[in-house]
Amino acid sequence: MIVSLAPMEGITGHLFRTVHAECFGALDRYYTPFLPPPRVGSSFGGRIKAEIDSANNRGLTVVPQLMSKNADEFIWAAQLLSQMGYGEVNLNLGCPSGTVVAKGKGAGFLRHLEELDAFLNQVCERSPIPVSVKTRIGVESDEEYDAILEVYCRRPIAELIVHPRVQKDRYQGTPRQEAYGKTLAAAPFPVAYNGDIFTVGDYTALVATYPATRHVMLGRGILANPALARMLRGGAAATAGELKRFHDGLFDAYRAEIGGNAVFRMKEWWSYARFAFADPLSVHRAVRKVRRVDDYQAAVSRIFNSEPLADVARFRP
Ligand SMILES: Cc1cc2nc3c(=O)[nH]c(=O)nc-3n(C[C@H](O)[C@H](O)[C@H](O)COP(=O)(O)O)c2cc1C
Repeated sequence: MIVSLAPMEGITGHLFRTVHAECFGALDRYYTPFLPPPRVGSSFGGRIKAEIDSANNRGLTVVPQLMSKNADEFIWAAQLLSQMGYGEVNLNLGCPSGTVVAKGKGAGFLRHLEELDAFLNQVCERSPIPVSVKTRIGVESDEEYDAILEVYCRRPIAELIVHPRVQKDRYQGTPRQEAYGKTLAAAPFPVAYNGDIFTVGDYTALVATYPATRHVMLGRGILANPALARMLRGGAAATAGELKRFHDGLFDAYRAEIGGNAVFRMKEWWSYARFAFADPLSVHRAVRKVRRVDDYQAAVSRIFNSEPLADVARFRP
């Protein structure tokens, strides 16, 4: 089974990936949060360059994810990534954000199937490296998926990662795993599952229902339980010591990068990581209002000294 880390903008960047791998062992594959391709003729710059720099991703199998509806820009970016040594590029067809969708990108591209078909035709033919796709199953309704899947099945995409929600769901409601099952049955290319795998039980149930499952992508489940991938392989739950070491590594890495603003980055992490503790609300209250590094460090010490871990760390939407 391939177990990968989902792209999560603002969270699973290169610092998160490397610190997590150091503390809990590497996953089989990591997808970068979505990156805008540079204009044709320009190179990746600044934050994006750091995200894909091989020196910042040592020892990890990373697939850069692009969000674009411009085939020439996508292909140009794929050429740059190929020169950097990447062996695959992923297309984001799932981002539900209103501004992204309004521009016809992310999940918004699923509204324009003819355009999407032409785009996929171009990029699959002209990209020097294989193109995989991460998709939702529609914009408004599940019924859109048959037509979307038909478009995918016409093209030699490297892999289709299915997050079986529609754009309108955002991250609410239950993923429609039947749509994933339908994809497994119909697709001439490899398929992966993503969505609400938060515990070993969720994973076991998915694989029992769809025994052909070969790749599971974990997102919020890993944020709430950083040992989740290890547990799927029969390993132990995270200890408080491991969690603290992971926290400290992450905070130090963010501080080295962005100074005091690391507190805000860590508060976003805590909005998921609190579910590793028996009383997530109490953990939330402890960090909610802190702004300064010293207050933050005091709050974190209190959490690790007095909050017991949950019996089962599980993300709760
Ligand atoms: C904060 C946040 C940021 C995300 N950023 C991205 C992204 O950059 N690219 C993408 O394809 N999906 C993104 N997603 C969606 C996740 O990759 C994943 O599909 C979703 O969280 C469902 O999986 P999960 O239930 O395992 O978390 C994001 C989700 C969240 C909550």
